[in-house]
Amino acid sequence: MLEVEGLEAGYGGTTVLRGIDLRVDEGEIVAVLGANGVGKTTLNTVLSGVLPARGGEIRFDGVRIDRLADRRIVEAGLIHVPEGRRIFPNMSVIENLELGCYRRGRANRAANLERVFTTFPRLRERASQLAGTLSGGEQQMLAIGRGLMGEPRLLILDEPSLGLSPLLVEEMFELIKRLNREGLAIMLVEQNVVQSLEIAARAYVIENGVVALSGAAREVAADPDLRRIYLGL
Ligand SMILES: Nc1ncnc2c1ncn2[C@@H]1O[C@H](COP(=O)(O)OP(=O)(O)O)[C@@H](O)[C@H]1O
Ligand SMILES: [Mg+2]
Repeated sequence: MLEVEGLEAGYGGTTVLRGIDLRVDEGEIVAVLGANGVGKTTLNTVLSGVLPARGGEIRFDGVRIDRLADRRIVEAGLIHVPEGRRIFPNMSVIENLELGCYRRGRANRAANLERVFTTFPRLRERASQLAGTLSGGEQQMLAIGRGLMGEPRLLILDEPSLGLSPLLVEEMFELIKRLNREGLAIMLVEQNVVQSLEIAARAYVIENGVVALSGAAREVAADPDLRRIYLGL
């Protein structure tokens, strides 16, 4: 579904990604892991068409998307839930959700909204409340709900567990598993290695701008290099 080959990207004189290769297949959860500052969010902004690639190729359903405008990428069904949620605090929950079907999914707006409210009953209860008054966990649900409004074919989640209490982190990973069981392909970008590897089918670990370790999640979890990459041992 998503194929990334030799992807290079950076800012000004700085190169962050030096040739990333990865793929996500239909119906999979794929974890993309790496220490803070390694370039995970940079990868996501390139995949979303916000930051231009400096080299390599990105294909979605076999079609090159690395020269497309961000709105075209959303229209194709590659939908990104950004790090730090990026909801609009002075708009209501329902208004935030409706923004999610601005580019895609608008014809099924009512059905999509009902589906999001079924997935997140808490958002239904708070539909008319200002988004800024929600708890951190609820804001993350809102950000994911907004992504679901656009009928994603592949959903990219950038650090969905960041800043949540351990109990809510647990709930978040359960939710991701549930969305995937309903057929959604998910690229899960996380620093939370242990829990991500528990729910992912496959994983890629980024170090120094390249994929340093990849494979079935169970094998990556058992790989001694994982400790070295994270702990610098
Ligand atoms: N807009 C930007 N301008 C310049 N440098 C940036 C920008 N965003 C991120 N960086 C740098 O790129 C590197 C990778 O950052 P990022 O992709 O956010 O990492 P991660 O998401 O893995 O924590 C870091 O060194 C960071 O300081
Ligand atoms: Mg990041």
